[in-house]
Amino acid sequence: MKILILGSGGREHALAWKLKQSAKLTALFVAPGNAGTELIAKNIPISVNDFDAIKDFVLSREIEMVVVGPEDPLVNGVHDFFLEDGQLNKIPVIGPQKAAATLEGSKEFAKEFMMRHKIPTAQYQSFTKANLEKGCYFLEQLKPPYVLKADGLAAGKGVVILSDLEEAKKELKAMLLDKKFGDASATVVIEEFLDGIELSVFVLTDGENYKILPTAKDYKRIGEGDTGLNTGGMGAISPVPFADKAFMHKIEERIVKPTVEGLKTDNLPYKGFIFIGLIKVGDDPKVIEYNVRMGDPETEVVVPRVKNDLVEVLQAVANQTLNEIDLQIDERSATTVMTVSGGYPGTYEKEKEITGIDAIEDAIVFHAGTKLVDGKVRTNGGRVMAITSYGKDFKEALKTSYKNVAKLSFEGMNYRKDIGFDL
Ligand code: AMP
Ligand code: GLY
Repeated sequence: MKILILGSGGREHALAWKLKQSAKLTALFVAPGNAGTELIAKNIPISVNDFDAIKDFVLSREIEMVVVGPEDPLVNGVHDFFLEDGQLNKIPVIGPQKAAATLEGSKEFAKEFMMRHKIPTAQYQSFTKANLEKGCYFLEQLKPPYVLKADGLAAGKGVVILSDLEEAKKELKAMLLDKKFGDASATVVIEEFLDGIELSVFVLTDGENYKILPTAKDYKRIGEGDTGLNTGGMGAISPVPFADKAFMHKIEERIVKPTVEGLKTDNLPYKGFIFIGLIKVGDDPKVIEYNVRMGDPETEVVVPRVKNDLVEVLQAVANQTLNEIDLQIDERSATTVMTVSGGYPGTYEKEKEITGIDAIEDAIVFHAGTKLVDGKVRTNGGRVMAITSYGKDFKEALKTSYKNVAKLSFEGMNYRKDIGFDL
């Protein structure tokens, strides 16, 4: 099978690494890819949102499956583009159609979906410029801290949590009147604050059947002890130790089943990954968000724990025979530590030479923001490289990740030294 992956991060490298192990794979392309994917597949310099160029490439190379990494092309309708094109409509795309991708593209849509299907989540109301006054009144009724969310995609920055009522009102005005997040904040969702510990559950569905993939916990803040600015993710562990059988049972019954059923009831075709962001409040799971793709860096710990042939699994998604797959999960824990450019998530420099990659032992290197320049690996983004290791528990796995991260070096390199600190 000839497969094209869309994307260029650690997530896409991890997917490529796993697909590459399949005897069913005959050719693997990544658009646009990074230095890591270039080493195991062929990178194609096409943007993930350039659907016409993707079409030309898919037809010319007789691609038989497209796996979509990031949300952007899904929200922009890449799957629909394939289905509506007479030459492309037989080629499976892994990732939901635009209508279902709205679960990530609009927080209001996601909240309405959860309400309709009685999926536990924070109480909320949404507001626009037209009812700003009501929004301020709603804030007055809530207890602090106040959670304000831009409705649309805002590159992970659209959620603001404030403890002061006056500041929360000011923020609401900045979002609605001053378009703080552009059109993404034309509607703002105000939510009840949920106090608890976060985890993520990943589900693969063919629209009819589903499989629950390993859980993961991601560390989003730049600073140790979960301080400082939000990033795309500084590290992850899988499985999440507190997600025991009883808790997973609640998640499956109260959240996963109604989500998959709800997609069917609402006529939202879905073949792909569902990333459910959760908070454990007391002993109960509540949904904070849906993403319509895998997480990054969660993929770098989830995918290495899946023992099955991923080509076979994704074919089952495409053929709607996922019920026939017996999912096998590695008992070991996996951890990943992300190295990032100095200054990230603010401004940072690129093109720094990375050394020490060859010295990595007993760990997997997943490239994120890297590129090959004259045969040398250089930095090309904020998040640069994730080092994934296995262990009998997450502590043992982390030791190996950290031992190897210490061998890597580039000017300004930074990483969090306390992944898993809260467990
Ligand atoms: P989101 O983009 O919806 O995942 O929100 C980003 C982050 O804000 C989450 O990972 C949580 O840490 C936090 N968050 C979002 N919603 C809530 C909530 N209702 N209560 C507490 N924290 C929240
Ligand atoms: N690591 C969080 C995300 O992929 O959205």
